[in-house]
Parts: sequence; structure tokens; C-alpha cells
Amino acid sequence: MTTHTEHLELALACARQGPARDPNPRVGCVLVDADGQVVARGHHAGAGTPHAEVAALTAAGPRARGTTAYVTLEPCNHHGRTGPCAQALHRAGVAGVVYAVADPTARAAGGAAWLAGQGVRVEQQDHPGAAELVADWARAAVLGRPHVTWKVASTLDGRVAAADGTSRWITSAPARQDGHDLRARVDAIVVGTGTARTDDPALTARGADGTELADQPLRVVVGKSDLAPGARLTSGTTPALQLRTHDPVEVLATLAERGVHSVLLEGGPTLAGAFWAAGCVDELLVYLAPALLGAGPSAVPDLGIATVTDTARLDLVDVARVGPDLRLRLVPLTTPHPHQED
Ligand SMILES: NC(=O)c1ccc[n+]([C@@H]2O[C@H](COP(=O)([O-])OP(=O)(O)OC[C@H]3O[C@@H](n4cnc5c(N)ncnc54)[C@H](OP(=O)(O)O)[C@@H]3O)[C@@H](O)[C@H]2O)c1
Repeated sequence: MTTHTEHLELALACARQGPARDPNPRVGCVLVDADGQVVARGHHAGAGTPHAEVAALTAAGPRARGTTAYVTLEPCNHHGRTGPCAQALHRAGVAGVVYAVADPTARAAGGAAWLAGQGVRVEQQDHPGAAELVADWARAAVLGRPHVTWKVASTLDGRVAAADGTSRWITSAPARQDGHDLRARVDAIVVGTGTARTDDPALTARGADGTELADQPLRVVVGKSDLAPGARLTSGTTPALQLRTHDPVEVLATLAERGVHSVLLEGGPTLAGAFWAAGCVDELLVYLAPALLGAGPSAVPDLGIATVTDTARLDLVDVARVGPDLRLRLVPLTTPHPHQED
């Protein structure tokens, strides 16, 4: 390991002390003197608290002068709730800055260039762990809202439930476990009141033995009607958050304020159709069962598409076999599909 990498590892360990679910990214900073000794460490403890650089500078006091700051994310260059970190580093007399991940936001980026302009030695060094730690935040920051993955279990004829509303289970146990693994990786799971009423889901992330994992995503129900008394979404240590709106944009804005960067949309068709129509689906995961129902709701309601040239098309980015089922990973197409050209 190079010295830079070692110090970035330390900064990353600091960053991990920050809250996992917060509107702001987890960031860590260590100040290292010319002898390679760590002078101070800092991490960002959540929105409204000092940024990691400022926390480290405060801990170091005058000893910050002449040090090199190792930061997991490019020092910000904007006045948010706290002042720009780039300026704070410069004022404290920091001689060098090594950062791992460039700030992807137009608002806060430019800290590295500003510091270099002030004569500070600035270096960017890739660090996969640091990139991974802020990946969801960065994706949401670029989108301006949480990233949405719409997950659906469907038959070959596109049905997501039988005519009587039952949908348990369309797909196999391995496919459902795959879904649980997915739940464990997102900040929030979202369903509509229709699914809450029909399926009474727990919406928890569970391991292969059925036990709930320690870290659970936020459970969210969208819709104006009350949940049934005793519904599983009203129980548990933290009852589900109900958002009494039909507007996907409002849903995502509310979730963003709560520090949600990634959403798993688990339907049903009414809510999924509304997210799709609002342009709020970034990725689609279809668990396709080799089965037919012939009746029952399809994955989306009427999208207002009257003719085949207007078909909503997606790009198939991955196909995997999960038990007897297929898992398709797709993204909405932003450019015309070849089928639509002459
Ligand atoms: N196979 C699968 O992957 C899967 C996944 C989920 C569900 N399902 C099945 O889907 C069926 C339920 O479908 P669903 O469409 O009724 O469920 P849903 O989309 O979960 O809920 C629909 C309800 O959400 C509210 N809502 C929220 N946003 C809305 C909007 N923009 N426009 C209109 N209503 C909105 C409305 O209730 P309010 O009156 O309360 O506002 C609406 O009745 C069940 O049979 C379930 O088993 C299957």
C-alpha cells in the first residue's frame, strides 16, 4: 500500500462513523504532518453538523498548519449550512490535499481547483472503498432525487397477480431471496396502499433463514387511505411511513429530506405506473417466472400508449437465471430504439 492509500484508508474508517442514512454523504478526513504522523481525524456526523475537514481542523487547532489533508470526498466549495471546506483548509494553512472522489454536484464541486489556485498541493487518488461509500449519495445528487429501482415479479404474460389479487408467490424462493438481498442494499422500500391492503407485506429485508437483518430500510406506503388496523406495516419497531399523496415527485422529495438516496419501488401496478409516467424510474428489475396466468393485473395500468410506434422501450442490461426464474435488469431508453427506426 502506498502512503496515500494508507491515509485514505484511515480517512475512510473515519467516514464510516457517520450516519448511514443522511441527506449528506459520509466523509472522513485525516491531517498528516510532514513526518507522516496523523495529527487529527474528523468525520461528518450528519446534515447541519461540521464537515469532516472542519471537524479535523478543529481537533488539530494550530497543528493543522503545514499538514496534508486526506479526504474521502473532494472538499466542498460552497456555502451550505456550513462554510466551504476548501477555504477552511486554506485558512488553516494546510499545505496539501489528497482526495479520493470528485464531488459530482455542480453546487459543491470545484474545491480542488480552488485550492490548487491558492498554491495548495492537490492530488486526486482513486479509492474504490471511498467511491463505494458515497455511490448512492452521488447518484442521487446527480439525479436531484433518490435513485429508483422498480422491482416486479411477473408471469410470461406480464401478470403481477391473479384475478383474485393473490400474488404469492409468482416467483420461486431463490428469486424472492434475491429480492431480500436487494432490499438490504437500499435506503427505502415503497409500495402503494393497494399492495399494503391486498398483501399485508412486512417489507423487511430477511436472510435466507427468514430472520430480519439488523439494518432495515425505511418502509414507505404511498396513498391517501388508512392502513388496516393491525397491518404488518403499522407494527414492528418502526412503523412504516405513510405519505398521503399520489405524486411520485413529492414522495421522492420527502424521502430525500429524510436522507434516502436509493428506493426500491415494489409496486403495485398503480403506483409503479405513476412513477413510470412521472419519469421517476431509473432501473427496472423484473423477476420473470416461466408461468402463465391469463387474467389478473399486468405490471402497469394503461400508459396511454395507443399504437406500437409509441411503445415505451427499455434497454436490457443484464439477464440472470435465479432458480427457475429469470432476472432482467433494464433501464429506460433515452435514445430511440432500433425497432422504432425505418
Ligand atoms: N407481482 C408483483 O411484483 C407485485 C408487487 C406489488 C403488488 N402486486 C399486486 O398488485 C395488486 C395491487 O395493485 P394496486 O395497483 O392496487 O397497488 P398499489 O399500486 O400498491 O396501490 C394503489 C393505491 O395507491 C394509491 N396511490 C398512490 N399513488 C397513486 C397514484 N399516483 N395514482 C393512483 N393511486 C395512487 C391509491 O390508493 P389511495 O386511495 O389510498 O390513495 C391506489 O389505490 C395486488 O394484487 C398485489 O398482490 C404484485
